[in-house]
Amino acid sequence: MAIVVKSKSVYVCNECGAGNPKWVGQCPSCGGWNSLIEETVVPASSRLVGYAAAKSEVVTLSEVCPEANQYISTTISEFDLVLGGGLVSGGVVLIGGNPGIGKSTLLLQASICLGDDEPSLYVTGEESLEQVSLRAHRLGVANSNVRVLAETSVERILAQIEKEKPRMVIIDSIQTIFSESLSSAPGSVAQVRESTTRLVQFAKRNGCILLIAGHVTKEGNLAGPRVLEHMVDTVLYFEGDASSRYRVLRSVKNRFGAVNEVGLFAMTEQGLKPVTNPSAIFLSQHENPVAGSAITVTCEGSRPILVEVQALVADSPLSQPRRVALGVDGNRLAMLLALLHRHGGTSLHGDDVFVNVVGGMRISETASDLAVVLAVLSSYKNRPLPEKTVIFGELGLGGELRPVANGQERLKEAARHGLTRAFIPKANAPRKVIKGIEVVGLSSLEQVLGYI
Ligand code: TYD
Ligand code: MG
Repeated sequence: MAIVVKSKSVYVCNECGAGNPKWVGQCPSCGGWNSLIEETVVPASSRLVGYAAAKSEVVTLSEVCPEANQYISTTISEFDLVLGGGLVSGGVVLIGGNPGIGKSTLLLQASICLGDDEPSLYVTGEESLEQVSLRAHRLGVANSNVRVLAETSVERILAQIEKEKPRMVIIDSIQTIFSESLSSAPGSVAQVRESTTRLVQFAKRNGCILLIAGHVTKEGNLAGPRVLEHMVDTVLYFEGDASSRYRVLRSVKNRFGAVNEVGLFAMTEQGLKPVTNPSAIFLSQHENPVAGSAITVTCEGSRPILVEVQALVADSPLSQPRRVALGVDGNRLAMLLALLHRHGGTSLHGDDVFVNVVGGMRISETASDLAVVLAVLSSYKNRPLPEKTVIFGELGLGGELRPVANGQERLKEAARHGLTRAFIPKANAPRKVIKGIEVVGLSSLEQVLGYI
């Protein structure tokens, strides 16, 4: 008698990847509305990922020797930096970002990095071969041996990869790829997960480099489940203002290098070009000092970058004045305004406050606190801050100015760009004099305001 196996379904949230036994309108895990999608449970055997699927043999750790010179350069200096040195055999890199930010451009530029003897395979699910060729001409990579494939079925892609045996495969983008074994639509959580699993499995088993482009949702997360981020070795995000030509590539997870490293690019007519002197582009050039502008130095990954924080404080016609933070955290801004009220004696209850970081840069660390407060105050009083001055330091809720990491490097970067004075936390003041810059060590917000 034949045994009938009933196929099981679960409902998986498209936003967070959480599973639920029945369909509900709101995801119990992340609160997203209408995000649950039916998914059939796939037998556990096909879910094996990574090296687990390749071999299983117990060895002593000391007997395992990593490949010498393991990093493979992408030929794009900033890309290498973010990757922690370069690409790694069997490494899977996911690049997320808004549409039009430059994912396809970067991947096509990197596709020629292995040279003509080991052509990589560029799989496009979004564009036609003609469109890829057009772009390749623009980027100056059209004369390479790069193989291209316009295909969206992961089964057929894998068949082609088996045949071609490329050392590097580029998938653009994972949301367009689907597996014939599932009935849900391409881009759904089940499809994205299944396709990625199959591709990652292949890459790990064959030591093939896999680069995947992924879309992001309107909240800025990678579309599809969080599990996608767990399956790959490296997750990079492309950021930047659509209107600005500068792009920031940030690493948020990296098994082979440091996280929070950033690479800076400029989008030009011939594709993405690395920016070698980032401090220069994030400062705007003012003839005379202007009110509401403060220069700070943020440490992105291993390097300090000078950025300008701008603030505008204006009488608000609204009963609930607006607080707009671009490039800095909105909650942090609210906290800093409260600090300014409590410890600086300036209340902005009736004013709109706008804060912007020049050049589309996003500051994720607290070292910019003091600069934000001083920029706001400077705009409110309509008095410029002292010229050629760099300002950094974290503010505590008691109004104290707390030290930040990498004080020396920050000061040196400021001195290198011709700034002559620094307002910084006392504990960050260097013991040795740094040439060209006068350091003012301060211990609280009150002291800073008194000094200025
Ligand atoms: P693209 O790489 O297609 O973005 P994504 O794959 O992330 O959606 O980027 C396309 C944008 O970049 C588009 O607005 C045109 C612009 N661009 C240039 O400015 N110069 C170039 O050389 C290329 C190829 C694109
Ligand atoms: Mg694209």
